[in-house]
Amino acid sequence: MALETDYVVIGSGVAGLRAAIGLARSGAAVSVLTKDRANESNTEYAQGGVAVVLSDDDNAELHEDDTLVAGAGLCDSRAVEVLVNEGTGYIKELIDWGTEFDREGGKLVFTREAAHSRRRILHAHGDSTGAEFVRSLTARAAVERSINLTPFANTESLIVRDGRCVGVRFLDPILRAPREIFARGVILCTGGAGQLFQHTTNPSVATGDGMAMAYFAGADLADMEFVQFHPTALDLAGAPRFLLSEAMRGEGGKLRNKYGERFMSLYDERLELAPRDIVSRSIVAEMRRTGTRNVFLDMTELDGEFLKGRFPKIYETCMHFGLDISRDALPVSPASHYCMGGIRTDLWGRTTVPGLYAAGEVTCTGVHGANRLASNSLLEGLVFGARSADAALSDESAAPAATSASTADRRGKSAGSISVAVKKRVKRVMWERVGILRDRSSLERAIAEFDQILTGRLDQASRNFVTLGRLVAAGAIWREESRGGHFRLDFPDQHEEFRVHSIQRLDTPIASASQIAF
Ligand code: FAD
Ligand code: SIN
Repeated sequence: MALETDYVVIGSGVAGLRAAIGLARSGAAVSVLTKDRANESNTEYAQGGVAVVLSDDDNAELHEDDTLVAGAGLCDSRAVEVLVNEGTGYIKELIDWGTEFDREGGKLVFTREAAHSRRRILHAHGDSTGAEFVRSLTARAAVERSINLTPFANTESLIVRDGRCVGVRFLDPILRAPREIFARGVILCTGGAGQLFQHTTNPSVATGDGMAMAYFAGADLADMEFVQFHPTALDLAGAPRFLLSEAMRGEGGKLRNKYGERFMSLYDERLELAPRDIVSRSIVAEMRRTGTRNVFLDMTELDGEFLKGRFPKIYETCMHFGLDISRDALPVSPASHYCMGGIRTDLWGRTTVPGLYAAGEVTCTGVHGANRLASNSLLEGLVFGARSADAALSDESAAPAATSASTADRRGKSAGSISVAVKKRVKRVMWERVGILRDRSSLERAIAEFDQILTGRLDQASRNFVTLGRLVAAGAIWREESRGGHFRLDFPDQHEEFRVHSIQRLDTPIASASQIAF
């Protein structure tokens, strides 16, 4: 039997939890559906911290400028203004709700990360900022009696009637069968798609499902070609690609090649604190120059006790794999980390499909442009999670949930999870042909391979995943320039005519737009 509620939120990371709290404070009934355990999300693993204007020597204009510079000409300045101006209030609210950021002598401590002109990054438990966000937001959500959170409820498609999103289809974890839930509004907070790539810092839930669901429901996706590769993921046989936070370089960590030489001066005068895309490409160039599969992050000049206190999670994890960060050079190489592209939204999280809202990494709000400034995404999830809830609540055209809609338009057989063989193949193709360095021929070969997979019989989750890879590759072919996270070997320069956003919509050729908000 189908279910009814006032609002459905999909995902329980920072964006989903903040959206759900916003909706529930109005008294509305909110169903949060989430794919895995409630705390399994990119948010849970966020290390470095959250960028926010709170220190005495900082101001919103400086944060805005740094964000715009990182975005390489493609940020929407209105979206950035919303982020930096409203972000401070939402962080204060989070502190009021019990979030414990690190302090010294009672005062908040700020760290520095690449491309920030000020020390403006708040962190928690040293390097476990995301887990503290999840802990405090989950505790706050538990106070709201009208939030009903269902873990292990994988959502595969959206229900659209007469052009309006009226509900979602998910796998009921108790019935172990597909089920529908209808609502006045649906907020997608399903996070990013780092799992598209063979090497990633993202957990297994980050398969970009929300982007694919929105695409099949007719929503615009924007800037799918922009993927951020983090320069320093642990690269050790038998270990996961665990992130070694940028804050480690912010605190003085050095990058060295296999000869123990610092090499960043060959590539950028900002050395280890150059923007992420530059550091990642420099590492790739250095690995090729020296014929190795990794470089090293060297923290050994820093005091061991300081490192243990500042990066406890990283210290403990590396120790588990036999590396003492205060003594050993740490083998690292780049891995996919963050999607700048996603579901196109206005400044209130509205997508181009009425009744469907989105917030967090699943979106393209215009905040990040071609490259995200480090530690801006937890802030984005908070600000736009809250805003999307406000927008959904104020939508006067929303009809109460009704279960009468037909369910005839299921696109693929439901299987719950992506086929192992399909996932492996897509990840390899994405890494080898749609990765840090791209060109037309590699991208065309990727598209041909995806088209071939799509002609086969696929369950819906697998179809979503392959389609998403194809969308990234298609955007990357379309953008004949290099900008931010997107680097084309055959078009290494930035071109003014491409200072526009790519827009992809089902059954429509790629279009461009001068701004994200519509
Ligand atoms: P997520 O936190 O990823 O949550 C998505 C939710 O959707 C999850 O609960 C997931 O299970 C659920 N979901 C997904 N698909 C489905 C489906 N089909 N059905 C139902 N539920 C679904 N950013 C910073 O600002 N600062 C940092 O220090 C930082 N460090 C990072 C470190 C790591 C290792 C990683 C991976 C990312 C880091 N980021 C950081 C990025 C940041 O963590 C994310 O961009 C942000 O947390 C995304 O929040 P979100 O709520 O949009 O998505
Ligand atoms: C990190 O700690 O390096 C990740 C920060 C981010 O992705 O914003």
